[in-house]
This record gives sequence, C-alpha cells and structure tokens, in this order.
Amino acid sequence: ALLGIDIGTSGCKALLIDADGSVLASSTATYGLSQPRPGWTEQDPALWIEGARQSVASVLVERGDVEIAAIGLSGQMHGLTPLDEAHRVLRPALLWNDQRNGAECDEITEKAGGLEALLGFTNNRMLVGYTGGKILWMRHHEPELYAKLRHVVNPKDYLRFVLTGELATEVSDASGTGLFDVRRRAWSAPLLDRLDIDPALLPACHESQVVTGRVNQSGAALFGLPEGIPVVGGGGDSVIQTLGSGVMMPGELQTTIGTAGIVASALEAPEDNPDGRLQVFCNVAPDSWHCMGVSLNAGGAMSWFRDAMGSLGQGAEKPSFDEIVARAAASPAGAKGLFFLPYLYGERCPHPDPIARGAFVGLTARHDGGDMARSVMEGVTHALRDIHGLMQRIGMQHSVIKASGGGARSALWRQMQADLFDCEVVTTEGAAEGGAFGAALVAGVGTGIWPDAKTATALCRPLTRQLPDRETGDTLRRAFAIFEGLYPALSQSFA
Ligand code: XUL
Repeated sequence: ALLGIDIGTSGCKALLIDADGSVLASSTATYGLSQPRPGWTEQDPALWIEGARQSVASVLVERGDVEIAAIGLSGQMHGLTPLDEAHRVLRPALLWNDQRNGAECDEITEKAGGLEALLGFTNNRMLVGYTGGKILWMRHHEPELYAKLRHVVNPKDYLRFVLTGELATEVSDASGTGLFDVRRRAWSAPLLDRLDIDPALLPACHESQVVTGRVNQSGAALFGLPEGIPVVGGGGDSVIQTLGSGVMMPGELQTTIGTAGIVASALEAPEDNPDGRLQVFCNVAPDSWHCMGVSLNAGGAMSWFRDAMGSLGQGAEKPSFDEIVARAAASPAGAKGLFFLPYLYGERCPHPDPIARGAFVGLTARHDGGDMARSVMEGVTHALRDIHGLMQRIGMQHSVIKASGGGARSALWRQMQADLFDCEVVTTEGAAEGGAFGAALVAGVGTGIWPDAKTATALCRPLTRQLPDRETGDTLRRAFAIFEGLYPALSQSFA
C-alpha cells in the first residue's frame, strides 16, 4: 500500500491506497490556526507533526495488515517554517493566507527590476502570502530571529525532515516560494542574489516523484512505522490534488472548494503568465506545468457564515453545513438579487488585494437566512468563475470540471458550477481526499508501481456527474455579470 499524508490548514490527513488506487483507510486529525493580529495567520509546526502522528496511527490501526511501500507528502503551500542551525523551529509558521507582507512583496518586485523582470526570473508575481516575501518580513521585523535563521522549509517539507532527517523539497512547492524559476525547474539564482537571500537557506529541490529520503530511526519511533520506507517529494496541495482528481489533459479543469478556492489545469509548457495574475507552477510530473488561480475565500467563507449564524442565541447550537445547504437550496437561483463578496481574508486572484473585504450587496427586508446562505455559496462560485475568466484570456479551454475539496460534497454547490460554467461537473473517487490522495499516487509513480503520472490519473474513477441546466445557468450568468462589477465598484471603500 501507499501512504499519503497531507498537512492541511485545518488538519492533517493520512490515507492508504492500494495498487489499483482504491482507498483502504483514511483519517484526519484537526488543529486550529492562530490569528495574533488581523491579517496574520500562524500555526505551530508541532501541531502538524502531532496531527500527522495521530492520523497515521489511526490508519495503521485500521489497516495493520498492509505493508507500506512508499510515502508521499502533500501540504498547504507557501508556509514559512523557519529553522535554526540545529533545525529547531524559530517561531510559529507564517501561513499561505497570511497577509502581513505586502510591503516586502513590493520591495521584491522593485529589487528584481520591476514586474516584467520578476516574471522573467520566476514567471510569477511575488504574491502576498508566498514564502519569499515572508523571509524579507522576518529580516525587517524580527532581526534577532532572522540572525538565527538557517533553513526555510514549507510545511510538508518540515514533516519530511521529521520523518527522514533530510531537508528537501520538490518543484511544485518550490514554485510557490516565488523564488523559483519554473521554466528551468530550479531556484532562481539571479533573483536570490538581488534579494540578498543566501541560497543555502533553501533546501535541495527535486522532481516531485523522486525519493528524497527514507524513514529514519526517530521518524519510525515517532510514527510507529518501520524504518527505511522511501519518502518521495510529493507536492504542494493545490498542485498535487489536480493529479488526485485526474486532471492532466488540456480541457480538464479542476475546481476546489476547501478553505481556499482554486481553479486549476495542467499545461504542457510553462506558458507566459501575463501580468502575473495567475500562478504558473511546475507540476508534479516532469515536463508538465500547472496553472491556477487561488481565491483565499471559499469553504472558509461558509465556515464564517456558519459561525456567525450560530453565535447569536445564548447557548444556541451552530447550524450544520447540511442544514445551511438545505436552506440555501430552498432559495431561488440568484438569491433574489442578493450578492455576497467573499473576500473575508483579503483576496489573491483575480484581485491581488490583501485589504479586499467581504460584503452582502442588495440586502432587503425580504431576504431571509436561506437567501443569505445561497448568496454565500453563489458568491464563492462567482469568485471561481472570476478566476476562470483570466484563464480564458490566455486561451485556456474547459470541457469538464472535476470538483474537489470539502465543498464538492455538496450537490448544490457542484450544480451551481455546472450551471454557471456551462459544462459538466464530475467528482472522482479519491478527489474528496484532497492532497493526500495525489501524494499517494506520486509515491506510487516514484517507486515504480505506475510508470508515470498519466497512468496514475487513469485510476481516478468518476463518482458523480452533473450536467448544466440552461435556464438556471442564464440566471447565474446574468448575476455573474453584476458580481464582476462589484469589486471594482467597492474596492475604494475597503480600508
Ligand atoms: C496555493 C495556496 C493554497 C494553499 C492552501 O497557492 O495558497 O492552496 O496551498 O492549502
């Protein structure tokens, strides 16, 4: 069997699959995130390790009969995990949705010689939240800690270190540092030089399926695993989960509604990234690239809504997600003219704006909680469509959407996508397992169970299929035309 481990934002998932891609066991251990100041998001890496320990222990209990041939790692991208010389964690990790480093991103763009020059080095903007800007933030704001900084790793690569003792990363997560030349699939030496970042801070970078090390003695003792199991590179969650959804060919689009919302597709070449509005990264297969746009607000907006609704009555219980979706389903498409802008955590794509804010627009006394719930779900769907608009401008087509993430469990949310995008929406087995499933597939490719990633994606069997409804689609597309105008109209009022 193959073990995939995904260090998510809200929890760690461990998953075992067998050689035909069937899920044998899966377990998630949840943890929280701290927001020490507005716009700051942090996590103690010890939470990841404990989450991984618990989730791995529970799949091992469930399937003690199987032998683990290889491990693949996946995780939230861009998280700065700062280590000192002795590999001790210097401070809590700064997460992907942390918005504190806008000034440093501007500084990086300027030092690179402007946006065009930066795109020449990396084919990506330095977006707020990327690892690169956080390194400079530490340099400016925590000089004493920075003086001790010797290694910068992303979250899953910290787990790799604990499991194997090796400091290493792979091309997809490296792409998300903003310091990586995705065309050459190597760290950008000229950019590091301009930013005065010592290349020795960054780990060795491999292709994603390469075996980067083996479970060592302390890893084995901590995780209850046999020593010597190979650990492959794996991938950043939002890249590797395209593989886990069976998205490798042109025309296949993946949408993810997790905490964040993602629209992604595979590319056969590192296409230019006009204006750097999209994220063009290395894919987890060699000679393959990945294009995506990430909204910082998807499932997270729904969780906010649930918490907000549940916080009013004294001792009142929060509604369940199923209850909220049932109320939303009773409201008509278009939510009687109510719009929700989901930018509760600022936004990244298509509006790179850390101070973007959420809003209900068009609220009247005839709207009830169900209409509000529907407008939250539609607002998230519109935000995904907004990202896809950018992809269409660089000529990307779509014939099928493969929906994933926790939000894909909702038939209503999938149907909204089918209607608004006017194409079929499928879910595939394993896709709901997110990055952990893709990581297990990459582990299989890396250890010769499957010859390549395309063969592995053929194991992603369809589970559900929904077709677009023309009439509802027309209503949603009219609403989308209004939605598109709301951010430009309101952005000046966000402060
Ligand atoms: C990708 C991104 C998110 C995180 C969340 O660029 O920021 O997908 O990886 O898990």
